[in-house]
Amino acid sequence: MPERHAIDRRALMASLSALGATVLLPKPGAAAGLVPTPGQTEGPFYPTSFPADVDNDLVLVRGAATRALGTVAHIHGRILDRAGRPVPGAIVEIWQCDAQGRYRHPRAPDHERFDGGFQGYGRMSVDSGGVYRFRTIKPVPYPGRTPHIHYAVIVPGAGRFVTQMYVEGEPLNERDGLLNGIRDPRARRSVIVPLAAANDVEAGAVQGTFDIVLDL
Ligand SMILES: [Fe+2]
Repeated sequence: MPERHAIDRRALMASLSALGATVLLPKPGAAAGLVPTPGQTEGPFYPTSFPADVDNDLVLVRGAATRALGTVAHIHGRILDRAGRPVPGAIVEIWQCDAQGRYRHPRAPDHERFDGGFQGYGRMSVDSGGVYRFRTIKPVPYPGRTPHIHYAVIVPGAGRFVTQMYVEGEPLNERDGLLNGIRDPRARRSVIVPLAAANDVEAGAVQGTFDIVLDL
């Protein structure tokens, strides 16, 4: 199912301020520094309920008989401010579809057949260097979308930032409306991550680095 198009920043800010929320979005003309990671829509499949197991290993679900289907991907990165300093206390959440393109979500197509060996969602707090890491699966396409992993970063007292990570070399990247809705080429490139073989980390796995720069 295609997700909604890129959010209208002003409308989003207005609706969030009505809710009393703070949001971290790139400000036009902000001071020079690192390029802030572009925000992306949350999409329709953020969990409505969380699995019992929400740790940063999405390939293993506590109590499940089998591990997740798909190619294992080790994704890590840092949560930084525009000056390149780690953001202490940040909480990173990811969610994505299983190896068959199904989300663990009651309104997602075919969700009844979601891979019970895949956690679908995970979260962790960054360490003192702003580093997060997840063991998950390499994202796959589903109708209307190129492969992606959804991210939310919560900075206590400062707000919540939502984006998506894409995979370099995926042919559908050229046609994905949300990815190409990021008009600034540098900003668009910043959410496209090369995944390289990582047999030294885990046989058959791939790994990639996705740093997120918040407009702080
Ligand atoms: Fe999605």
